[in-house]
Amino acid sequence: MAMCRVLVAATLAATALAAGHGDHDHDHDHDHCEHEAMMVNYTCDSTTCGGYMAYKTSQCNASSKCPAVVVIQDWNGMNDYEKERARMLAGLGYVGFAADIYGYGTPVEDMGDWAAAAGMHRGNPDLYMSKITAAIDKVKTLEFVDTTKIAVIGYCFGGTGVVNMAILGMDVLGVVGYHSGISPSARVVRGNSTVPVTAKVLLHSGVKDDMATDMALLEEEFESAQATYEIARYGSGVYHSFTEWSASVPMQAMYDQRADVRSWESTKHFLMELFDGLPAASREPECKHDDHDHGNQVGSQQTSSGKAAVLSLGAGAVLALLA
Ligand SMILES: *[C@@H]1O[C@H](CO)[C@@H](O)[C@H](O)[C@H]1NC(C)=O
Ligand SMILES: *[C@@H]1O[C@H](CO)[C@@H](O)[C@H](O)[C@H]1NC(C)=O
Ligand SMILES: *[C@@H]1O[C@H](CO)[C@@H](O)[C@H](O)[C@H]1NC(C)=O
Repeated sequence: MAMCRVLVAATLAATALAAGHGDHDHDHDHDHCEHEAMMVNYTCDSTTCGGYMAYKTSQCNASSKCPAVVVIQDWNGMNDYEKERARMLAGLGYVGFAADIYGYGTPVEDMGDWAAAAGMHRGNPDLYMSKITAAIDKVKTLEFVDTTKIAVIGYCFGGTGVVNMAILGMDVLGVVGYHSGISPSARVVRGNSTVPVTAKVLLHSGVKDDMATDMALLEEEFESAQATYEIARYGSGVYHSFTEWSASVPMQAMYDQRADVRSWESTKHFLMELFDGLPAASREPECKHDDHDHGNQVGSQQTSSGKAAVLSLGAGAVLALLA
């Protein structure tokens, strides 16, 4: 990946030098990782947003469409971090599309700007959802995208966005949030809403980031909605921004390699479930093996008669046995 990153940077520079000759409406960047990556402008709400798309041209085309995964940015805007995640998704065989939520002209120079822009969207879920929808709609226009297979992942502020998507009943197969803002003041609260949560939900949370009471509240909402969801909690000492490679504010926003690795691996499985279906449950492989316990014949007999007893009992009785 590190080498891949360097090559992409090199081709970006080469593309910049060659700019002006292209007949396309966006900058192409044909990198050596066998996927294409480029900026894509689209209309979002009443402004223009600049997304970043990456996909393998050898794998995704009009006759062999690929699932798409939209990446929702963290609060400091859509930048190198989200672009790299989009390329990682391309590497998995998907169309990765890093959405631009703020749009051109929104200042993202410093923390004051980030707080203002993120706050404006957090405080106006309709606006925020319209920006996310605009990115999804753009992705659905791509001829090499399977429009029935869309997932959305989001980081920090973007993680809050995907929680909102689920609660508001947005129509995508699934959403993944990493260190999302899940306190009721940060996100949409389901309350008495009867809107079905149709997206499957996977959330990755640092134990030191999210309060247990906020987690419990969110779980209650997902339960009442009969949502299909999973919330992974990482510890010990896992704070906000644990997937952000450069995060290094002690006791607040810290990269955590294990939480990053495990949440990404979990995401891969989740995406496979969304796009290809849930795999069969793992069981002992079927094989004709001799079930004799040579060392302890009596123990073996007890085990098999115990199994038979369990099989002949009802589920309630089994629970009683286990209790
Ligand atoms: C995207 O839109 C911005 C703002 O309007 C413009 O400056 C930029 O050149 C456009 N880029 C592409 C690739 O069309
Ligand atoms: C489309 O992609 C598939 C593999 O996903 C490939 O076999 C096929 O040759 C591609 N078609 C074109 C026209 O590139
Ligand atoms: C849900 O409904 C109950 C009973 O109608 C009401 O008391 C409560 O305030 C409502 N909660 C929300 C969050 O709207």
